[in-house]
Amino acid sequence: MKVAILGTGYVGLSTGVSLSEIGHHVCCIDVDEGKISLLQQGISPIYEPGMEEFLARNIAAGKLRFTTSHREGLAGAEIVILAVGTPQRDDGSADLTYLEEAAKDLAAHLIQGTIVVIKSTVPVGTNDEIRKIIETNCHEDVSVEMVANPEFLRQGSALKDTLEADRIIIGSENQQAASKVKEMYSPLKVPCMMTSIRSAEMIKYASNAFLATKISFINAVANLCEAVGADVTDVAKGMGMDKRIGNHFLQAGIGYGGSCFPKDVKALWHTTRKHDVDFGVLAETMRVNDEQQVLLVKKALKRFDGHLSGKKIALLGLSFKPDTDDMREAPSIKISQELNKHGAQVVAYDPVATSNAKRVIGEKITYADNLLEAITDADAVFVVTEWQEIKQLDIALLGKVMKKVIVFDGRNCFDEEKIHSCKNIEYYPIGRPAIIT
Ligand code: UDX
Repeated sequence: MKVAILGTGYVGLSTGVSLSEIGHHVCCIDVDEGKISLLQQGISPIYEPGMEEFLARNIAAGKLRFTTSHREGLAGAEIVILAVGTPQRDDGSADLTYLEEAAKDLAAHLIQGTIVVIKSTVPVGTNDEIRKIIETNCHEDVSVEMVANPEFLRQGSALKDTLEADRIIIGSENQQAASKVKEMYSPLKVPCMMTSIRSAEMIKYASNAFLATKISFINAVANLCEAVGADVTDVAKGMGMDKRIGNHFLQAGIGYGGSCFPKDVKALWHTTRKHDVDFGVLAETMRVNDEQQVLLVKKALKRFDGHLSGKKIALLGLSFKPDTDDMREAPSIKISQELNKHGAQVVAYDPVATSNAKRVIGEKITYADNLLEAITDADAVFVVTEWQEIKQLDIALLGKVMKKVIVFDGRNCFDEEKIHSCKNIEYYPIGRPAIIT
């Protein structure tokens, strides 16, 4: 099939690359000339494992193209996928400006029979709004068929998540259009669920909000575990053995970040307010997450009797999770702000996200070129992101470069047996008893 995709962010690019990988002819369109020029050379503007190999293979095979021209990109497309960003407005609602602009841009080039698929995460009712915009701006004898087809990929495993998804949600009021989209995905051998447009839009928000709630729930359990002397990793394992609960997304830590969970939970909350529906669980999910993001600072304040001024704190990891350079809503942002407020001297290290972090956090903190530089002479280490390199840190090495080894592990990364075997360590994990040797 000939497929056009508007937007080359995480979702658009992963979808484009994956669809070309399974045999379709895909043209990705973006208004950002810089991005398109990089992509034309096979260079990925985002850090995503495997992306550049997929780009190289499918560009070389002539199945994947990139352009800034809507006329060129949309020519002959049977399916047009909208995958532009829907960022958060100040009031928490989703900003649909990019989507509306993309709809106007494509309307002028649409021919009869083209199916328009919305993959961007959009509030319930948006497909209907976008249909109106397209119909107002397209040729008068062209009618539009809309399909809501949300994406569930995670950064860092975007291609695997697209190619080996748990399910594909196809929402449409038009049987033919839904079948055509199902056919597009058929080489993937992933179960498809056909539903209405509004249910498909809702599935995306409800799924992300549920996962975010699961994380806040286990974080609240972790805090209780600390108070009563239980171990949240065992508690989560025991809970997860119940198939009704499931063992995923029960990892206690310093809260969820990223481009989706914080924004989507807020947008769903905004929708509940708009429709006057009581959904207090969402407010609690957000509140717990806000508190959890600064938990390490609270723990450090307690350990240092309220005084962090002049203390050198090594922040290990800056991105919101490993295998991405994305800093959106990363806990490291709030942690840095709080530490600054208390007069601490922050030295941060991240294997990939440093240049993005400099733009977001700025020069109020120092950025180390390597792990050793960050931890040398630190008064305390904060483990913020569980990068492989950080998880593999030799605990014994800390003893050689720190005056006193004090570790606040926000991701429960380290092996407790190893910590027990070292002398003079203070180790404070999340939801587990502290180890002081
Ligand atoms: C998420 C959804 O998983 C994906 O389906 C959706 O399409 C986009 O949003 P992503 O933001 O890439 O994907 O990352 P994910 O791996 O889900 O993690 C989100 C956040 O939750 C991270 O900050 C992570 O550290 C945190 N998390 C995740 C936990 O704290 N505990 C867990 O058990 C799982």
